[in-house]
Amino acid sequence: MKITLRVWRQKDAKSEGRFVTYEAPDINEEMSFLEMLDVVNERLLEKGEEPIAFDHDCREGICGTCGVVINGRAHGPRSRTTACQLHMRSFKDGDTIVIEPWRANAFPVIKDLVVDRGAFDRIIQAGGYTSINVGGAQDANGILIPKPTVEQAMDSAACIGCGACVAACKNASAHLFMSAKISHLALLPQGQLERRRRVVAMIEQADAEGFGSCSNEGECEAVCPKDIPISNIARMTREYVKATLWAPQK
Ligand code: SF4
Ligand code: FES
Repeated sequence: MKITLRVWRQKDAKSEGRFVTYEAPDINEEMSFLEMLDVVNERLLEKGEEPIAFDHDCREGICGTCGVVINGRAHGPRSRTTACQLHMRSFKDGDTIVIEPWRANAFPVIKDLVVDRGAFDRIIQAGGYTSINVGGAQDANGILIPKPTVEQAMDSAACIGCGACVAACKNASAHLFMSAKISHLALLPQGQLERRRRVVAMIEQADAEGFGSCSNEGECEAVCPKDIPISNIARMTREYVKATLWAPQK
């Protein structure tokens, strides 16, 4: 198949960016989207041109590194699919594909399609963990947890921290991401000790990073490759209200 790419090129965080058009003939429809970019980059290198910088790691939909906006939609046209798991058969011969980085003040562009998602790391460092010793794998059965609770916690833990929810939100809100992490830990007995301090610290850190608030429009849920539901945001709000009405934990 032959496609035309319009790719955001930006030298570094301080430079202005612009769309550059590339013709990409002889693309195999069984290639993944990132393999197609690899082929385009090989051709650019053969011509002595700078390859397109884009983030990737696992290419299996589990690490959350491969975030780009494809034709206006975070991670592209297929629901519940990361950019690395998208295949060129999702497009048609002759298509024009527009590729952009995540757009959010809290995710500054480093180069081309690569953004700095360190803000997510700092939110996790603020409270998205449990600091108690929960034992080893063999201790997991020591605390029995009802199956429905475990399932809900696991579904929340599926968040891969990709940032698509932020990119899709007109407020650049990190609420879906935070709510997944907060729900995961708030549902489990191991997350109780720091439960109130966690939600307050994470929300304060998100505010400091420049993420916006939530206006309940659901774009985040629509693009999330891991199907994290916005009902988690309601849980996070309840957690926050409870934490701030009661004496905060130290
Ligand atoms: S909630 Fe979904 S879209 Fe947001 S960071 Fe997690 S996996 Fe990505
Ligand atoms: S490269 Fe790991 S999720 Fe896409």
